[in-house]
Parts: sequence; C-alpha cells; structure tokens
Amino acid sequence: MSRSVAVLCSGGDAPGMNAALRAIVRSGIYHGLNVYGVYKGYSGLLEGNLQLMNARSVANIIQRGGTILKTDRCKAFFQKSARAEAVHLLHRKKIDALIVIGGEGSFTGAYLMANENNYPVVGVPGTIDNDVFGSEYTIGFDTAVNTALDAIDKIRDTASAHDRVFLVEVMGRTSGEIATHVGVSGGAEIITVPNHSLSDSLGYIIKKLRVSSKQEKLSSIVVCAEGEHPGSTYELAKGLREQAGIDSRVAILGHVQRGGSPSAKDRLMASIMGACAIESVIKNKFKIVVGVVRGQVTTIPMQKIIGKHKKPDQKLLALAEILSI
Ligand code: F6P
Repeated sequence: MSRSVAVLCSGGDAPGMNAALRAIVRSGIYHGLNVYGVYKGYSGLLEGNLQLMNARSVANIIQRGGTILKTDRCKAFFQKSARAEAVHLLHRKKIDALIVIGGEGSFTGAYLMANENNYPVVGVPGTIDNDVFGSEYTIGFDTAVNTALDAIDKIRDTASAHDRVFLVEVMGRTSGEIATHVGVSGGAEIITVPNHSLSDSLGYIIKKLRVSSKQEKLSSIVVCAEGEHPGSTYELAKGLREQAGIDSRVAILGHVQRGGSPSAKDRLMASIMGACAIESVIKNKFKIVVGVVRGQVTTIPMQKIIGKHKKPDQKLLALAEILSI
C-alpha cells in the first residue's frame, strides 16, 4: 500500500484548486499517508521543489482562488526523458504515487509518465474549461461561468441603453462549455462554439442578427467561444461591419474568469473529488481520473479519456435557439 503521496497543480489555475488540495492533504493525513505538496507543477517536480504538508498547511484556503502550490505549463514534460527524471526523483524521495490536479493536457503528461515508468498516478480535474472527456464536471467551471454571467448581465444594461450589439468572448479554448452555459443562462441571443471557421460563425451571426432586427430586438448579446485563437472576436466585429454594416462592441472577458473565490459548488465538488482521489490511492487504483458520471463522483480510467475531446452540447445549443426568439 502507498504510504507517501505527492500532489501538484498543473496548467491554468481554476477556482477550487485550493479546496481540492485541502481535501487531498487532510483526507490523506486522516488515512495515515504522508502528503507532499509540489510547487509549480511539473517544473517544480523536476526541480525537486516539494514539501511535506500537514493539516495546518492547508488551513484558510478553501475560499481562495488560484492555488497556494502555484501552477505552470511545463514544456519540458513533453520529453520522455523529463518524465523519467520526475519518476526517479519521486522514487528518491520515497513517494509512492502522484496526484495531478489539472486538465486534459496535464493528464496526458501524467498518463505518459505512468505508462513509460510504471508509476502510479491519479488525476483530479481542475480547469475552468470543463473539457475533460468522460467527466461531466471539472473544478472551477461553475465559478468561471458565474463570473462571466455577472459580466454579461452588466454588459446587457449598456447594450440595451444604447441599442447595441455586443460580442462577448469567453474562455474555454477548444471547449464550448463556458460559452454554451453562459449563453443559455445569460439569455444570449446568439452563441458561437469553437471549431467553426470565422466565416461560418460570421454568416451565422449575420443571419441571426437580421432575424432579430425583424423581430424588433434592438440590442443583442453574442457569446463567442474563444477557440484556438483568443481575441479573434475582433475579426468577427470587423466582418460584421464590413460585410453587413453592423456596428458592434467587443468585450473579451479573459483571465478575470479564472480568478475569484470559488462558488459553493466548486468548493463542494473539490472536497468530494479530492477525497475520492485519496480513496483511489488507498485502494491502489491508479491511472484513473476522478470524474462525474451521471451526477455521481466516480473514477474513470485515464485510457478512456486521453486524446478525446468533448463536443459542444447540442441540446443546450438547440435550447438557446428556441429561447432567443
Ligand atoms: O485552460 C484554461 C484557460 O483559461 C483557457 O480557457 C484559456 O484559453 C487558457 O487557459 C489561457 O491560458 P494562459 O493563462 O496560459 O494564457
């Protein structure tokens, strides 16, 4: 059985990562494990930047955004040799397993490291993007959606006062989850999802705005998923002006969506998912990701999720169409 486990955060931070860390450290200690915190993600691991945690190390953090461990996007970890080096270091420190709090990219690194070096890993999904295939939820999503929603409610006031069209770009990279959830809950007139070309999105927006104007809608909120190219919403605004003579304003919500105190849902999910990760370690269940399936927290084999991508929720998009008439 594992006696010592290390935990790190990797990729973009997400509100609730601290709550997950707290749950991992405290339930690990409760079950008699030594829990090491690794600072600065995989880079910190390669530098041996880790420290034994105690219950007080994670006091007063459940309500804090960001991550007290800090995080990074480690390019070196794309190399097989770096992953082997990380495992050597973990063995040297007599650490029996690694828990990674992060998103799809971070889990790919963990999975490769596990397979190449026969090292036990567990993933806990922490990313605002909600892009982990196979899991209905990732820690940080609810807070990010609520932050974006708050901004959209405010933008609607000024859009309505000026009878304007606003293009609001939300984060999520290649996942359209933030866009679809914020779009429906913010009553957006139009939602664009990733993987559509600029011209397809433009054609769709122009068509919908023409219908809106016939229906005497004087202002419109278009929620745009950032996709692979954050900031490309400015191109959409340019296209609207040049191709249809439609004047619009652009609001890129950006990193504000990553910050702030986690919502109750994110704190709760992080607590449950963090504790579930420790249960897996105790049961010697590795190469799994803790996830939500049909509303229940469970474990999913990494092999089933790596390299797969969540598609935008077509039912939500269809609902958005109906509700925006
Ligand atoms: O993965 C989380 C995320 O916030 C994405 O939504 C966004 O595209 C990306 O990270 C931004 O990354 P960075 O903070 O490195 O610019």
